[in-house]
Amino acid sequence: MPEQIEIRRLAPTDIQEQLDALAGVLADCVAGGASVSYLAPFSHEEARGAFKSFAAEVEQGRRLLLVAFSDGELVGTVQVILALPPNQPHRAEIAKLLVHRSARKRGIAQLLMEGAEAEARAEGKTLLVLDAVTGDDAERLYARLGWTRVGVIPNYALYPDGRLCDTTYFWKAL
Ligand SMILES: CC(C)(COP(=O)(O)OP(=O)(O)OC[C@H]1O[C@@H](n2cnc3c(N)ncnc32)[C@H](O)[C@@H]1OP(=O)(O)O)[C@@H](O)C(=O)NCCC(=O)NCCS
Repeated sequence: MPEQIEIRRLAPTDIQEQLDALAGVLADCVAGGASVSYLAPFSHEEARGAFKSFAAEVEQGRRLLLVAFSDGELVGTVQVILALPPNQPHRAEIAKLLVHRSARKRGIAQLLMEGAEAEARAEGKTLLVLDAVTGDDAERLYARLGWTRVGVIPNYALYPDGRLCDTTYFWKAL
């Protein structure tokens, strides 16, 4: 049977129900060395805490959270940050695109990004911005999906093990 992938936008109560699965994806990405805000060691409990605070922002209408299910199992997620200053009502930011290492290279991140862009458009957003570690897998993905590369900021953040990494900024008009 071919893999069934479903992309879904989660309501705050659904996020609470999926907290362990979401935390599992985030903790796996950090354990795999992804620079996505957190440093090692990063526990499952800390990852649950991160998604609890994202759920609060979804509840307040400040963020959207989408997930990918593969044959019913939650394997990926992405967020759209809607809450920006009053003079940027048309803009949103993409954050925390995460796919569990066991589910990579099957097009799940691409489907999540297409879903996030569609949801942002439905919210009336016409400009998206994001940043990615320079040279990592995500950078190729964004370029392939039609995002425009702005430039590189050297030594912008740390990998989980404390090494510095550069960041590339991208934008996309919807
Ligand atoms: C970046 C990330 C989200 C990509 O997730 P993914 O689901 O593997 O992404 P995709 O499958 O859409 O694309 C990845 C690659 O698989 C390829 N691919 C897609 N479907 C495929 C298939 N059916 N068979 C073979 N390869 C496939 C894509 O062409 C792409 O190739 P490339 O790496 O040479 O460009 C994932 O690696 C991740 O979670 N990384 C850690 C967290 C992170 O860095 N997030 C980004 C924050 S900015």
